[in-house]
Amino acid sequence: MNILYRLTSILLLFTNISCSQDKNKTDSFPKQNVGGMCEGCEAVYESPIPLEELNWIDTLPDFSESGPKLEISGVIYKSDGVTPAPGVILYIYHTDQKGYYSKKGGESGWGLRHGYIKGWIKTNDMGEYKFYTLKPAPYPNGSDPAHIHPVIKEPEKNEYWIDEFVFEDDPLVNESYRKRIQNRCGSGIISLTMNSDGILIGKRDLILGKNIPYYTK
Ligand SMILES: [Fe+2]
Repeated sequence: MNILYRLTSILLLFTNISCSQDKNKTDSFPKQNVGGMCEGCEAVYESPIPLEELNWIDTLPDFSESGPKLEISGVIYKSDGVTPAPGVILYIYHTDQKGYYSKKGGESGWGLRHGYIKGWIKTNDMGEYKFYTLKPAPYPNGSDPAHIHPVIKEPEKNEYWIDEFVFEDDPLVNESYRKRIQNRCGSGIISLTMNSDGILIGKRDLILGKNIPYYTK
């Protein structure tokens, strides 16, 4: 009995050491996020509407103001490039008509950096998304083309940034710009056409995981 007790104690001791070592081993490896570092991507969680209730269409707050009206839509596909991806959240924000991330007052969190022109969308069963906004202006210093920042949040994955929406006819979308972009989830360079209502129409389909570091299918 005494021997059995001692053997059991020794076994438990090794078991505890083993569990402890495994935990330490896990903790010693840094967690690698899909898409790598992304300052401000967590703004996706600042949606005024609960994420599970988001619609596949959103109209950004500036759409009722004066400026070139824009409609952007597309389909988000899974990493195979053919299967539509439902339930994917797309957070977007951009500058105003003067190139600033302007605020209305009362912003908090990442709203202090991203300003008030932003929206949240969740793809429908066909993977579709659409948003209405004004075409942004480039930064006043002309360092970058006019752009719309997108952040993706897939189910079961952390949020990550993808290539900005930019416009093919923008002189700042030049050779140098095209060389430095990564085409994350596919190219963000879109061509615009004007519909009969005077709205600029742009299309961009996305392939999840395309050119995204640390992406696991
Ligand atoms: Fe920006």
